[in-house]
Amino acid sequence: MKEIILGIESSCDDTSAAVLIDGLLASNVIASQAVHEAYGGVVPELASRVHQQNIVPVVSEALKRAGVKAEDVTAIAYTRGPGLLGSLHVGTSFAKGMAIGLNIPLIDVNHLHAHALSHFIKEREEDEVPEFPYLCLLISGGNSQIVLVKSPYDMEILGRTIDDAAGEAFDKCAKLMGLPYPGGPHIDRLAAEGNPARFKFSKPHIEGFDYSFSGLKTSFLYTLRDSLKEDPDFIEKNKADLAASLQATIIDILLDKLNKVIDKTGVKHVAIGGGVSANSGVRDAVEAICRKKGVKAWIPARKFTTDNAAMVAMAGSFKNKKKEYSDLGEPPFARVTI
Ligand code: KG4
Repeated sequence: MKEIILGIESSCDDTSAAVLIDGLLASNVIASQAVHEAYGGVVPELASRVHQQNIVPVVSEALKRAGVKAEDVTAIAYTRGPGLLGSLHVGTSFAKGMAIGLNIPLIDVNHLHAHALSHFIKEREEDEVPEFPYLCLLISGGNSQIVLVKSPYDMEILGRTIDDAAGEAFDKCAKLMGLPYPGGPHIDRLAAEGNPARFKFSKPHIEGFDYSFSGLKTSFLYTLRDSLKEDPDFIEKNKADLAASLQATIIDILLDKLNKVIDKTGVKHVAIGGGVSANSGVRDAVEAICRKKGVKAWIPARKFTTDNAAMVAMAGSFKNKKKEYSDLGEPPFARVTI
């Protein structure tokens, strides 16, 4: 019998469903929520409501594109956390209802595990996958951490942010520049035309492998505040250089610790994941240090960097192999670590 896993993701502001057939991705549908743009950030209550509107059509479309019927599905994997509790409830309740209706196993997936395992998503049989143990630099709007992935079932956080995540640094600084939410992609686009050495922003001095991004945000704010006093058009005139310098500083901070962890662990494979891993500068910089160190870099396709159900189905298939199923009484978790 074929293994047909339906993955469901609803942790933040993307409603996604994917179908994995015998380990190969057959469909991955994502409905993003434009409603938050007007508010400069994700509004949790609105996110839950839009998930409710999207979940049925998104799951139906994923099944249709995969060419399978609901009755063909052999297990359902869903994101249990971390994320916005209301949003998680929508995916969790839907997954549970469908598992009861079809009388098939339910698999709860940790969203961070799913990001770290996203490199195992295969669209073709010949697609390569990383070797364990590998490092994953997991960088998103809510997390910035370096994870040692020893196996699909055993991961250890070696460093994490003590305040803001890298994505928050991008988004908050972009907001200060008057750019729309989420600001990361806008900074990425502007940075391509700017001078990364033009402005200097402060970098944290933290022991060990932990990150901090709140000081950078303050330093960026002060630069804008002081310069705007001299010239009210300062941002408009310098936006490409500001974006390029900000992006370069974030990359320096991320890579400094990653570099040290690669040396300390001696791993041969290094992956990146999460929304910020879509950033062109981050991708190039990680490729470059890996090449220099003679380790293999795993840079995900951009469609698998942001929240998607393909990675949830993938992480679920590992648990399915061990028959690690979830109890129907298990609630979602807003906060949960790896
Ligand atoms: O993983 P994700 O979709 O959502 C969670 O936070 O769980 O990540 C979203 C974050 C946002 O902060 C967004 O600005 C950032 O990823 N992001 C980027 C880029 N694309 C998305 N940051 C920098 N450059 C990008 N190209």
